[in-house]
Amino acid sequence: MEYLIYVSQAAHPMGERELRAILEKSRDYNSRDGITGLLIYKLSESGERANFMQLLEGEKEQLDEVFKRIVADKRHHTKIILERHQIKRRNFPDWSMGFQNVKSEDLAAFEGYTDLGSDVFWHMFDEGEVSDPLDLMKSFYNDN
Ligand SMILES: Cc1cc2nc3c(=O)[nH]c(=O)nc-3n(C[C@H](O)[C@H](O)[C@H](O)COP(=O)(O)O)c2cc1C
Repeated sequence: MEYLIYVSQAAHPMGERELRAILEKSRDYNSRDGITGLLIYKLSESGERANFMQLLEGEKEQLDEVFKRIVADKRHHTKIILERHQIKRRNFPDWSMGFQNVKSEDLAAFEGYTDLGSDVFWHMFDEGEVSDPLDLMKSFYNDN
């Protein structure tokens, strides 16, 4: 069993209908493939751009398959893997794909992430100054 966390930039800011379409398809496929996890959508403060951050967990083969499809998806670009590690058991066992539409302040407890997707974020990431992405993702699960 493995988990993977990546961030990406949305092709454009998305409305509820577009996000729902992504989620419905994801939950459908993930239930079939034994994938669980969480998708975060964050609109920038200017409202001009948006980023995704997603955690996917499952068996290696299924994880590779789903990530290949996600990478090929034109609805987002600049996909960058933050972490990929083995785990003994799932952190999101009940979520075929959870969803959170967040603002900067929702991420304030996590060093670096209020700037997710910006140059500031990548600079901090390179310097090892961002907090553990798994802790951030898990905080949403534990709140529910
Ligand atoms: C931000 C984002 C997250 C996605 N997450 C998943 C996911 O968790 N599982 C999944 O099967 N597809 C996910 N998709 C959709 C896939 O990219 C793809 O459209 C879908 O799996 C259907 O693939 P197909 O058209 O080759 O059948 C996501 C797409 C985007 C843009």
